[in-house]
Amino acid sequence: MNITIIGTGHIGQGLAGALARTRHGVVLGGRTPRQGQAAAEGVNQATGALIQGADIATAVRSAEVVILAVPFDAVDAVLAAAGDLRGKIVVDPTNPLTADYMSLTVGFDTSAAEQIQARVGEVPVVKAFNTVFASIYAEGPRFGEMPVQVFYAGDQTRVKEVVAELIRDAGFEPVDAGPLTHARYLEPLAALNIQFGYALGRGTQIAPAWLARPPVAA
Ligand SMILES: NC(=O)c1ccc[n+]([C@@H]2O[C@H](COP(=O)([O-])OP(=O)(O)OC[C@H]3O[C@@H](n4cnc5c(N)ncnc54)[C@H](OP(=O)(O)O)[C@@H]3O)[C@@H](O)[C@H]2O)c1
Repeated sequence: MNITIIGTGHIGQGLAGALARTRHGVVLGGRTPRQGQAAAEGVNQATGALIQGADIATAVRSAEVVILAVPFDAVDAVLAAAGDLRGKIVVDPTNPLTADYMSLTVGFDTSAAEQIQARVGEVPVVKAFNTVFASIYAEGPRFGEMPVQVFYAGDQTRVKEVVAELIRDAGFEPVDAGPLTHARYLEPLAALNIQFGYALGRGTQIAPAWLARPPVAA
């Protein structure tokens, strides 16, 4: 599968490195061809990967999955630059945050993911990766024996299966969080993660996990 990550910042490069370890093709899309290529070279040098870089429109053209690793308020501009997304899956890792990162700008009767879905029409959107700090990617997808959980939410089963497979391929544990409207819960969960990481001083090598006991036999 061909995956394009739009955004060459912390999440774009982190996710690129993680997905480059899979059998999938990865392209990083920047504002310009040079920005995309420079970021891809940086990821390749740091991880030994062989990903490509390009401008957004070129990067999106051959992609089956498009990950929007940009600030939520940049999504409109990025979608305009991306062009025709029909036939592709959009993955939304954004958190709609205030400038100081301490509050959400969207919620709780809507979400960034639902607003992105409204902008792309029939193209399916899956919320995913928004509760994982970028610095987790550098250290790897496991805390000891335990894989970091990646919550995902969306409305189409087949599309969600594709995203769950990507998450698993990158070494994380996919956790189905229900329909896309449940992004209303995943975005506040990320906000709590940010509070733990920064305001409450735990740092960024943390991640939320949903624990479960095996069912007790009757
Ligand atoms: N950092 C985290 O730990 C983390 C965790 C989970 C989710 N997220 C979410 O992931 C998204 C990206 O976060 P980040 O930390 O990677 O941010 P970042 O390091 O600031 O990177 C943002 C990227 O978006 C690009 N960008 C911004 N506006 C653009 C535009 N109009 N057109 C094209 N590209 C544009 C930037 O390009 P320029 O450099 O050229 O401006 C940069 O490459 C955000 O929505 C954030 O809430 C972040």
